[in-house]
Amino acid sequence: MVHPSFKEKRIWITGASSGIGEALAHAFAREGAHLILSARNTDALQQVAAKCLELGAASSEVYALDLAQHAAIPGVVAQVLKSAGKIDILINNGGISQRSLAKDTGIDVDKRLMDVNYHGTVTLSKAVLPGMLLHQLGHIVTITSLVGKFGSPLRSSYAASKHALHGFFDSLRAELGPDAPIKIMLVCPGFIRTEISKNALTGDGSKQGTMDNATGQGMEPSSLARKMLRDIAKGKNEAYYGGKEVLAVYLKRFVPGYFARMIAKAKVT
Ligand SMILES: NC(=O)c1ccc[n+]([C@@H]2O[C@H](COP(=O)([O-])OP(=O)(O)OC[C@H]3O[C@@H](n4cnc5c(N)ncnc54)[C@H](OP(=O)(O)O)[C@@H]3O)[C@@H](O)[C@H]2O)c1
Repeated sequence: MVHPSFKEKRIWITGASSGIGEALAHAFAREGAHLILSARNTDALQQVAAKCLELGAASSEVYALDLAQHAAIPGVVAQVLKSAGKIDILINNGGISQRSLAKDTGIDVDKRLMDVNYHGTVTLSKAVLPGMLLHQLGHIVTITSLVGKFGSPLRSSYAASKHALHGFFDSLRAELGPDAPIKIMLVCPGFIRTEISKNALTGDGSKQGTMDNATGQGMEPSSLARKMLRDIAKGKNEAYYGGKEVLAVYLKRFVPGYFARMIAKAKVT
């Protein structure tokens, strides 16, 4: 057990049908949490939910949710609250990436990335927040990316959507105040071995369909999930995970001129 504070907690994970979200569901299940699992692929979610019960989840429910269908999100939140009563931890994990030069990327692709990653996440969080304020307790954990902290070739729309999440949630944390009972955490992974590059959109909006080398050699999602649970329990505001790519955050901060030359030459796939 990582931390007893997750036992019986009601934890809602978006993007739980695959990758990091699935690994988080398994990790919280081992802690005895009540799980609410969302994504679009409900068949995959049902399989994750069944596995979570095997692993020790107190309960495991599936709610279909499309982060791009903003008008439908408050209705899904109302259904979840009717069944669960309250949400202790919301994990905003669902999202899509991009693999295309800015000059080759259609505006509709830019908008799709913002719709799913930014507006969907913010719409869901704003619908969950009033309940947390009422109970004066809650934790909103949002998975952004290392490219939420710096820009990188082939990721213009994706990096923009993830930077925007930092702007929103840093502001919300400031509004809630430093000792607020509602905590806001931003999680910035580097390369994690999931389906992210296969599902990433190219300039014309089609999926890339292939695994990037860096992603294929990245950190295991189960390993990321273990580290994340530890840091969520600590109440961290922001955390970085991955291999040597994490250093880029500090290079951008402390030697920005050097970083700008380095990232322009980086062979990012
Ligand atoms: N893997 C990495 O290297 C990496 C690095 C940094 C950040 N991240 C972030 O980590 C998060 C999880 O990604 P992953 O690596 O686990 O990739 P993944 O295996 O492709 O999983 C993405 C998840 O997001 C869900 N999703 C996609 N579009 C959605 C939509 N419109 N509405 C609702 N859910 C949607 C997918 O479910 P459905 O298709 O069933 O809807 C899936 O469960 C993303 O926010 C990603 O940006 C990943």
